[in-house]
Amino acid sequence: MKVLVIGSGGREHAIVDALGRSPRCPQIFCAPGNAGIAAQATCVSLQDTDVQGLLDFALSEGIDLTVVGPEAALAAGVVDAFRAAGLRIFGHSKAATRIESSKEFAKILMEKYDIPTAGYKSFTDYAEALAYVSLRPFPAVLKYDGLAAGKGVVIAKDLIEAQAALKDMLIGESFGKGKVVVEDYLTGPEFSFMAFVNGCNVYPMPLAQDHKRAFDGDEGPNTGGMGAYTGLPFICGEDVSFAYENILKRTAYAMVNEGCPLTGVLYGGLMKTPQGIKVIEFNARFGDPETEVVLPLLDSDACDIFSSVACGNDPQPLEWSEDITMGVVLASKGYPGSYRKGFEIDCNEAGERIFHMGTAMKDGKLVTNGGRVLMAVARAASVTDAREKVYKAVSSIKCENLFYRSDIGHWALGE
Ligand code: AMP
Ligand code: GLY
Repeated sequence: MKVLVIGSGGREHAIVDALGRSPRCPQIFCAPGNAGIAAQATCVSLQDTDVQGLLDFALSEGIDLTVVGPEAALAAGVVDAFRAAGLRIFGHSKAATRIESSKEFAKILMEKYDIPTAGYKSFTDYAEALAYVSLRPFPAVLKYDGLAAGKGVVIAKDLIEAQAALKDMLIGESFGKGKVVVEDYLTGPEFSFMAFVNGCNVYPMPLAQDHKRAFDGDEGPNTGGMGAYTGLPFICGEDVSFAYENILKRTAYAMVNEGCPLTGVLYGGLMKTPQGIKVIEFNARFGDPETEVVLPLLDSDACDIFSSVACGNDPQPLEWSEDITMGVVLASKGYPGSYRKGFEIDCNEAGERIFHMGTAMKDGKLVTNGGRVLMAVARAASVTDAREKVYKAVSSIKCENLFYRSDIGHWALGE
């Protein structure tokens, strides 16, 4: 069996790793991949949004199954193009990807189908948006209506910050002229609930929690995610059932009813607020860095699971280990702002699984090649043990230009 994975980050490394454990021993390709992925798959130098290039490659190589990682590839229509050519591909159509690529589409859907989320209003006019925000309490939640690589959400603490963000989003150059969703500000612990979705059928994965801020104590700017773990003690079985029935299943049904069924991963970014569990955002793909802690727990054959979802069959048996995983991201100093690349890395002594997020080979040496560079992931019977193991691995990694958070899992440990 020949499998193609599209993408180049830690999420794709975890997908390649899961496929590599399949008893079918698939031949794995990854486009474009990275230096860590290259140890487990053949990297193909095609960008994730080069739909025609990817399609030509899959047809000429006789790829049996393609698994899409990033939202940009989905939004570029890679799934539609592959399906039109009769190829099997795991991921959502361009129309279904709107659940992530348009905040307004997601909000209208949730309102129509009574899926719990923050109240909102959307604007295209800067003066109207500013007038609305100035009459409401702060902080104000401002979301750009489009893919913005994790930078499209601003939590403005006062009118000055709100004004700057609205200018950027509605009249500035940085996003392109667009639409902004202004949302009610919610509070409570956040968690990620991912599921394989096939039309109305929803197959849940273990819960995970991401750490979006750059620094310890959830301080500093928002990032793509600085670490994650599974086994969340503050989410009980009742919460999971509620979220499964009233959020994930209802959303899957809604998408079928709207004529754009889901056929891949639905990611619910949820918050346990004092008024119950609510949706903060949906993603149309595996979360990053959540996937790096969730997929190692998949005991079933990943080839079978992805293939079944891709062809509309039940992904069964779908079995998950009860273990806990914790992952810590090592990022380039300066990230999520500007940073330098090309620093040599030695991670040979880590002793735990190391997923590569942004690495490359230069003159035969492993070097940093992105904002988020590596993610060390450890597995144990408890959060405490997983944390001890993962930080031991992290401290063995040698590179002069990396930093990491030292408090991943603090919500679970009551810190
Ligand atoms: P998003 O990209 O929509 O997940 O937003 C990024 C982060 O902004 C979330 O992880 C939350 O921490 C925060 N956020 C988004 N929406 C809200 C909201 N309505 N209330 C409070 N915080 C929010
Ligand atoms: N971890 C958040 C995301 O994947 O968007």
